[in-house]
Amino acid sequence: MTDITALSGSVEHWEGDALLVLAREEDCEKCDAPRPYGEYIRALAKRGDFDGKKGSLVRVPLFQDRVKNLYAAGLGKAKECAPAALRDALTTALRKIGRERNRSVLALIGAAGTETDVILGEAVGLCGYAFDKYKKKEKKEDGFVLERVFAEGIDAEKTSLGLTLADAQRFARDLANEPGNVVNPRTLADAAARLAEESRLTCEVWDEERLERERMGALLAVGQGSRTPPRLIHLTYVPEEAPTKSTKKVVLVGKGLTFDSGGLDLKPSDFMKTMKCDKSAACCVLGALKGVAALKPRTEVHGIIPAAENMPDGGAFRPDDIIRARNGKTIEIDNTDAEGRLVLADALSLASEMKPDVLIELSTLTGACAVALGSWTAGLFTRDDGLCQALLDAAKRRGERLWRLPMDDERIGETLKSKVADLVNGASRYGGAIFAAMFLNEFVEKGVSWAHIDIAGADFMKEESGVYAQGASAWGVRTCLDYILSL
Ligand code: BES
Ligand code: MN
Ligand code: ZN
Repeated sequence: MTDITALSGSVEHWEGDALLVLAREEDCEKCDAPRPYGEYIRALAKRGDFDGKKGSLVRVPLFQDRVKNLYAAGLGKAKECAPAALRDALTTALRKIGRERNRSVLALIGAAGTETDVILGEAVGLCGYAFDKYKKKEKKEDGFVLERVFAEGIDAEKTSLGLTLADAQRFARDLANEPGNVVNPRTLADAAARLAEESRLTCEVWDEERLERERMGALLAVGQGSRTPPRLIHLTYVPEEAPTKSTKKVVLVGKGLTFDSGGLDLKPSDFMKTMKCDKSAACCVLGALKGVAALKPRTEVHGIIPAAENMPDGGAFRPDDIIRARNGKTIEIDNTDAEGRLVLADALSLASEMKPDVLIELSTLTGACAVALGSWTAGLFTRDDGLCQALLDAAKRRGERLWRLPMDDERIGETLKSKVADLVNGASRYGGAIFAAMFLNEFVEKGVSWAHIDIAGADFMKEESGVYAQGASAWGVRTCLDYILSL
């Protein structure tokens, strides 16, 4: 992890590779950064080379011994300068700084909001991320590690919180980016067990025989067409202090499809590409538990992952099959590609039995959610308004876009019914994300406060932007951790 240090001497005397000044549009021409840097920025502004606009970023080589390069990054208009804009500007600037081979940086953040120190930690932790372990050393052009970052008057506890949030998300990305020939249900369980060992969590894994005994019929059905049988992974964090009446229990559930070919209802090739990321939510849950183990909240936290590979094969489940989930409900298979809701049916039944105070389930569940919200925003479904607001607030603080969608649509609810079983796993394309959320609700025991977050789309970035690198985003790790810390 990069070291973030509070600047002890004066800015004028700091020696290092790069000095970064963040400025709002209004501040460029009267930039009050210490000498001589403020003057440089004012001169750039006067010449029209830097205007503080959102996304503007310039480098000035200084040709002196103390500091090699000066960078100026724009934050946009003062009134539009939300914490998310600061996080994006800071990460983008640090990314450029790192790629231009600077290793020590002094960041002058100036007048910004209250969350600045946590945001600095997140930006430093995420700016150099790249999934490049399979590339030759000379070709690893995107990723880097900054050695030392300095900033004025920072609170070390907060920057280190930011770094820990980033570290948890990087861990989740590393795993989510692994392809299906490397990560399958068995190796995902191995990764969870390794994490548990390193972080003092407990880990229990159920193999196919145990799943049979535990009546996890839906998870088994989805996995039966794969050479690698399904697994159920359960990680537990218990706080060190003895529990009191106010100690809460949170259960996180994450869809773990290590690859989703669609099954016998095979996906067309354009849609099958990137389906290695259908385990993103599971990786987020693992990342969140890694974060929890480091941050040691007073809340008991569980992670439940139903892991399977959805493949077509002589043994695969079929359209028309009728399967029985753990809670006894029968499901008619309309489409083998609507498999996420099946593995989650069993996982949510199991999670309900644990009587959590809060149950949060994440999944790359429906293309419909990505169609509705785009590829940068996750969908939030819950009947609990309090939980809804708390999650929206946490997401906002962490700059992960989240938007509530309804799950109380009675007419869509009617279409869950099957002619031959209790439920059917698919229906119309219209309202597909809502249908799926309402399907999941059938497997959560009444009275449990729960939320479903559909991260299809948001889990994978085509291009890098802000804190996101190209590839798996691990959307949700920082939001879940922020939410848990807020309890
Ligand atoms: N894993 C997919 C959803 C998905 C799509 C995630 C795009 C990320 C990006 C899911 O298992 C799926 O295939 N859903 C179907 C459901 C349909 C068959 C009812 C879909 O959304 O098309
Ligand atoms: Mn599918
Ligand atoms: Zn899927």
